[in-house]
Amino acid sequence: MAEKERNDDSTGKFEGKPGHGKRILLRTFGCQMNEYDSELVTAILLSAGFSFVDSEDLADVILLNTCSVRDNAQRKIFGLVHEIRHRAGGRDLLVGILGCLAGHWKEDLVGNPRWRIDFAVGPDQYNDLPRIIANAAGHKQDVFAFEFSDEELYEGIYPARVEGVNAWIAVTRGCDNFCSYCIVPYARGRERSRSIKSILDEARRLAKDGFKQVTLLGQNVNSYQYDGVDFADLLAEVSRIDGIRRIRFMSPHPKDFSEKLMALVAANPKICKHMHFPMQSGNTRILKKMNRTYTKTGYLQKVKMIRGYCPDIALTTDVIVGFPTETDAEFEDTYDVMRRVEFDAAFIFKYSPRKGTLAERKYPDDVPPEIKTERIVRLNALQKEMSLKKNQAMIGRIEEVVIEVDTTKKSDQDAQGRTESNKIVILPPGDYHQGDFVSVKIKSATPHVVRGIISNN
Ligand code: 5AD
Ligand code: SF4
Repeated sequence: MAEKERNDDSTGKFEGKPGHGKRILLRTFGCQMNEYDSELVTAILLSAGFSFVDSEDLADVILLNTCSVRDNAQRKIFGLVHEIRHRAGGRDLLVGILGCLAGHWKEDLVGNPRWRIDFAVGPDQYNDLPRIIANAAGHKQDVFAFEFSDEELYEGIYPARVEGVNAWIAVTRGCDNFCSYCIVPYARGRERSRSIKSILDEARRLAKDGFKQVTLLGQNVNSYQYDGVDFADLLAEVSRIDGIRRIRFMSPHPKDFSEKLMALVAANPKICKHMHFPMQSGNTRILKKMNRTYTKTGYLQKVKMIRGYCPDIALTTDVIVGFPTETDAEFEDTYDVMRRVEFDAAFIFKYSPRKGTLAERKYPDDVPPEIKTERIVRLNALQKEMSLKKNQAMIGRIEEVVIEVDTTKKSDQDAQGRTESNKIVILPPGDYHQGDFVSVKIKSATPHVVRGIISNN
């Protein structure tokens, strides 16, 4: 398509708006918070007169909403930008970095021909994005915005969501925990809670728009506090909204997981009986070095408390292997906790130093890569056994499943849905619509999914 046509504003629809119908391609990496932020960015840019495309060829501006929590994110993004530039073959194209990596692009890097990045905007500056893109397009200097705010900045903006069963709602931003390995407090700033009113307004509107499930998000979601309202109070309020049938939240920190919260989870039928409960390590000395503020025994006691309220709750976790100085014996503690708790699923990562974190500054990354690999392989094998056992225990049970992907009887594609415990359920082709709630009898299981058929009793 000719350059002129791509920026065509013959309808006058975008006149006077900074976007002028310029076409954006937005790619999102990393966690659910980034997905939510991309929905916010979409809403902000649409109202500024930008439009969205899903192919690189049609885009005037490519936005990369980045994640820097693990791996070598910066190198990967450089690589991706070079590929994009190569494919663009020298045509006029702006490339901008959003999200957790934006802070790495200090002003002197943006605009530097070596990096080929035109602008960078941090997670608290998205309201400024239309102006920054306009500056980049006009070859102006001011193309870098990365400053943290102490306040919530996006109240009143209704994110532009993709249709589906679930909608994310950010209720806190940033993190004050400073786990020693984690970049989040540096990449996303101090923890702030959003007003309960704005969360409830958003949830009510989501229910009206047909979303059946909301997931409340925060880097440390259960430390939510606003005007004397805590996280359990917030959940209780959200559950009173008609139309919302399932409520989830991600990710709680064990230290802020109270009995009050668990009593509510157990008693409230809308709050899903699935808890992501990040352990990180099972060894008390390593947990201390990680600044997790709980011990092996403390973690196990919280799990006992959770199961005391909700014996059948599904539990999932995050684990890091090979944190600096972790010995074989200390790793065995992690193995031991995983064996004893029997998680439904676990996300297991090799430690990687993140620049600027306490662990990166103070502790050399001294566990050899092959030992990290050995440990991750052992934990994954253990987890696979546990996941299979948990899923096999579902065989014969009747589960309420929400359909996530439309299918028809005539299609040769299986349908897919999810249980309250967050298990993926595969169903034979049938006339299903996204958002339908159906009763399913579970017939078989693998470590990752279960299969079932519709049950009529
Ligand atoms: N190295 C490895 N894993 C990490 N995580 C966070 N930072 C690091 C790091 N430096 C993992 C933690 C966290 C998940 C989102 O990513 O397990 O819970
Ligand atoms: Fe990172 Fe710890 Fe905050 Fe989670 S709680 S975002 S691991 S600092």
